[in-house]
Amino acid sequence: MDLVVETKELHKHFGSIRAVDGINLSVQSGEIFGLIGPNGSGKTTLIRLLIGLLLPTSGSIKLLGEDVPNKGILAEVGYMTQTSALYEELTVRENIAFFAEMCGRKDAAWMDEVIDLVDLQDRSHSIVRTLSGGLRQRTSLACAMAHRPRILLLDEPTVGVDPQLRAILWSYFRKLAERGVTLIISSHVMDEAERCDRLGFMRQGRFLAEGTAAELRSQKGAGTLEEAFLLLAAGGMDGGAQ
Ligand SMILES: Nc1ncnc2c1ncn2[C@@H]1O[C@H](COP(=O)(O)OP(=O)(O)O)[C@@H](O)[C@H]1O
Ligand SMILES: [Mg+2]
Repeated sequence: MDLVVETKELHKHFGSIRAVDGINLSVQSGEIFGLIGPNGSGKTTLIRLLIGLLLPTSGSIKLLGEDVPNKGILAEVGYMTQTSALYEELTVRENIAFFAEMCGRKDAAWMDEVIDLVDLQDRSHSIVRTLSGGLRQRTSLACAMAHRPRILLLDEPTVGVDPQLRAILWSYFRKLAERGVTLIISSHVMDEAERCDRLGFMRQGRFLAEGTAAELRSQKGAGTLEEAFLLLAAGGMDGGAQ
């Protein structure tokens, strides 16, 4: 088994808030792992810990077998934040080049491939300021992949995106996974959860449950993931009684 992301008893506390409260996560190469949970459940904090932007209160993180934080591993990780981090006055291609160069990995052929992958061939010379929300979202995804990372951490990449573009983005994610990229994608939308290979249902910094969508539904005898999540959350509140 090729473990790409591994955390053990990971905690991040902000004063009395246990944003991440004992997460054990294992994600394999080429897998799409979904972090699913309501606002405030700790998804962003977990992703920021994985990339080393936050230091854990306790516990450990390994990416590609190396301890995090670790500057060497950063070149292998792409991160798409919840808020746009694009340079408004640069073109799509210039933005992608900038992110690639930051990791010392500018490669014209790969840039063309990334632009193709997100279907921005026609807009690669457009100034970001002039783009619609959907095109910006695709540009952000291209920037996160600009340096050819082996791990992609995408924090609610489809928020504010219409259903059609959402489906397109998910087809890109699947294409990347098929090429061996490992993706961790957070979402609070249950229909996206169905598209992940495996899920962690997060609530109050913990995984209420982990597994494939089918496993989680059958574990609770639920017809939908939403129902399974509500049943799990109710179990969590009364001390985890099943
Ligand atoms: N820098 C911070 N300082 C204090 N509290 C924080 C900080 N970042 C996140 N939190 C708190 O941690 C909890 C989890 O937040 P977050 O990871 O952003 O959740 P999510 O991404 O699932 O919405 C929330 O209660 C949030 O208010
Ligand atoms: Mg968040």
